[in-house]
Amino acid sequence: MSNDLIIKVDNVHVSFWQNNLGIYTLKDLIAQRKLPFKSKTILNNISVEVKRGDSLGIVGRNGSGKSTLLRTIAGIIKPDRGTVIVNGTFAPILAIGAGLESELTGYENIKLLLALYGTARKNTNAIDNVREFSELSDDVLRSPVKQYSSGMLARLAFSISLANDSDILIIDEVMAVGDQGFQGKCVKKIYDMKEQGKTILYVSHFPDDVARICNKAVLLEGGEVVHSGDSQEICQKYSNLF
Ligand SMILES: Nc1ncnc2c1ncn2[C@@H]1O[C@H](COP(=O)(O)OP(=O)(O)O)[C@@H](O)[C@H]1O
Ligand SMILES: [Mg+2]
Repeated sequence: MSNDLIIKVDNVHVSFWQNNLGIYTLKDLIAQRKLPFKSKTILNNISVEVKRGDSLGIVGRNGSGKSTLLRTIAGIIKPDRGTVIVNGTFAPILAIGAGLESELTGYENIKLLLALYGTARKNTNAIDNVREFSELSDDVLRSPVKQYSSGMLARLAFSISLANDSDILIIDEVMAVGDQGFQGKCVKKIYDMKEQGKTILYVSHFPDDVARICNKAVLLEGGEVVHSGDSQEICQKYSNLF
């Protein structure tokens, strides 16, 4: 892989087992009944290259495979075929609320995720940084996150992602539910990170934001990359779908 590439996704195929007929019991197993599961292709022969310092937008309809692609790049999902090479560190990948433990408080989630990603050891101010950026009050952070609104979850998720100071920042629709103040703050932060040479993977349903923030983009349809290239051009193609 050439030195200026930070991510190389090569011919990746991901499928999940889906159960359409109900639960498969031990009795079914003994009776040698056919497995009621079938494999469903989620990502089909995806190839994507990201250069260090690039901001890649990932657009496509709901269910087109955007989050699955991010999880595969982050190593959370192992592809059935193909390879993913990443030459950098990740922030924890947190879609709106996903990745947070609903029964734990905001503070407990922060501590858990910072410990998981080794941030707490490197940066003792990390918890304060998360609290400051999120602008969530002490009271809120002491409550279980299941009581949070989607905007509050987004604030917490994005602020934890930022605390990691990693090479690659992954943003999965996290800004969509934040209020205007928070959105503006996030966009400013993303620009700062771009200036610092960080690589950004950005999923959003707002083509204008993607075109503004990203230099490159891919359009997914049914788990396949149908277009890739300059972000403005790809966002136009995405808008034309509707
Ligand atoms: N863990 C899973 N098991 C089975 N199917 C899944 C799983 N995660 C996602 N899917 C399916 O994969 C498809 C793509 O989902 P996703 O990557 O979340 O799409 P997007 O982020 O573009 O909305 C959807 O059809 C979804 O139902
Ligand atoms: Mg998604």
